[in-house]
Amino acid sequence: MNQRTVSTLTSVHIMQFKEIAGDKYVLADEAALNAHGHDETENLLFLPEVVIRPRTPEEISLIFRICNENNIPVTPRGAGTGLSGGALPQFGGVLISLDRMNSIIEIDERNLQITTEPGVITEVLQNAVKEKGLFYPPDPSSRGSCFIGGNIAENSGGPKAVKYGVVKDYVLNLEVVLPTGEIIWTGANVLKNSTGYNLTQLMVGSEGTLGIVTKIVLKLLPHPKHELLMLVPFNSLEKAGEAVSAIFRAGYTPSALELVEIDALKIVSAYLNDHTIPIDDTTEAHLIIEVDGNHIDTLMAEMEAIASLLTNFDCGEIYFADDEQQKASLWKLRRRVAEVVKLQGYTIEEDTVVPRAALPALIRGVKKLGKEHNFHPVCYGHAGDGNLHIRIKKAGSVYSLDNPAIVPALKAIFELVHSLGGTISGEHGIGLLQKDFLDIVFTSTHLNLMRGIKKVFDPNNILNKGKIFD
Ligand code: LAC
Ligand code: ZN
Repeated sequence: MNQRTVSTLTSVHIMQFKEIAGDKYVLADEAALNAHGHDETENLLFLPEVVIRPRTPEEISLIFRICNENNIPVTPRGAGTGLSGGALPQFGGVLISLDRMNSIIEIDERNLQITTEPGVITEVLQNAVKEKGLFYPPDPSSRGSCFIGGNIAENSGGPKAVKYGVVKDYVLNLEVVLPTGEIIWTGANVLKNSTGYNLTQLMVGSEGTLGIVTKIVLKLLPHPKHELLMLVPFNSLEKAGEAVSAIFRAGYTPSALELVEIDALKIVSAYLNDHTIPIDDTTEAHLIIEVDGNHIDTLMAEMEAIASLLTNFDCGEIYFADDEQQKASLWKLRRRVAEVVKLQGYTIEEDTVVPRAALPALIRGVKKLGKEHNFHPVCYGHAGDGNLHIRIKKAGSVYSLDNPAIVPALKAIFELVHSLGGTISGEHGIGLLQKDFLDIVFTSTHLNLMRGIKKVFDPNNILNKGKIFD
């Protein structure tokens, strides 16, 4: 899909942008526009008219003032790893890339906090704090390439969320440039805050529609000393789902509890030519279970107790990852599932989330819908959070935003999720991709409240217009 909507942007505006950000950071050549016209969301391409790579919040503020006065659409972009289309410049206009705002400003070891710019790669930030014995847990699969700013925009999660929570649980304070040009701090660098409406949390997960985050203060934890990892095969996908809530009910809180259906594992193992995980004909799914903490004996005992509990759920022989290399190998297989199954024609990563105990019903329901709607689903994801990613393959249909062959199937999946008490995105956001399904979970009252908030922050609707809702 390639769509270009020409806005009110003129060459005079481009000259003004060059004065603000510097000539070489204002790009309008074809290669730059193409490179910034897509993210990881399917085959969508929307070209911006100009790409600006500012260095400071003040530069962004000046750019906003011009765009706001002239009704020029602005789309913020981090690393472009999003899966819901949040960074796609659907209406052309200005694309603001945050890639040059990539400094860690301070690691405050006394208060266990970090202040950073948004263009820092999440894993770089994690490693920087780890060197000081500190821990920033949220770890989306794309952590080696995604930006922390994008993680804030989408309220990302990842495997560790099951024990440690998602991005929102770590954000203490944000510097934000509003679409009208003002620069504010949303809160204070404190662990508790009951001072008025929580603007910090309103920004988290707002998908770049309310302002551009230019500084981020995050809470850190002491880094746990040990992590143990095991892989458990199950003869039934549904039983694997049942085992998940049994683990928590028995009093254990793993630091990761991921599920990978066998079809996904077969595809990713073959693609990476990595056969660390033995695949036999009877296995339908695996759980990857990690525990972490400071006392190795306690962790060993916990792993053994979980393993023994799982024998009640028709599991096969458990594999314990003994060294760092085996652990890395398992995690690599898990983290690359999405990207690799996509290459095999499994389209659109549904980011469903249900109350944890509803996971078996969700799995059962998705398989049934596959038969009714003639698609083949593959499931994987953060089972411990009830956050199941589902991709579907349907003969003869390639994804597009309004593909009539796929939309009814997606709608049926989301209606199922809603009927189980869940919702349609756990960690990827709504963006462009899921907005047509938002009315499954929200009434017009909800949507009007959100539109009202948008209007207060962005009265002229210039910033990331058309994302989340129209
Ligand atoms: C995952 C990402 C893509 O869980 O959400 O693999
Ligand atoms: Zn995920």
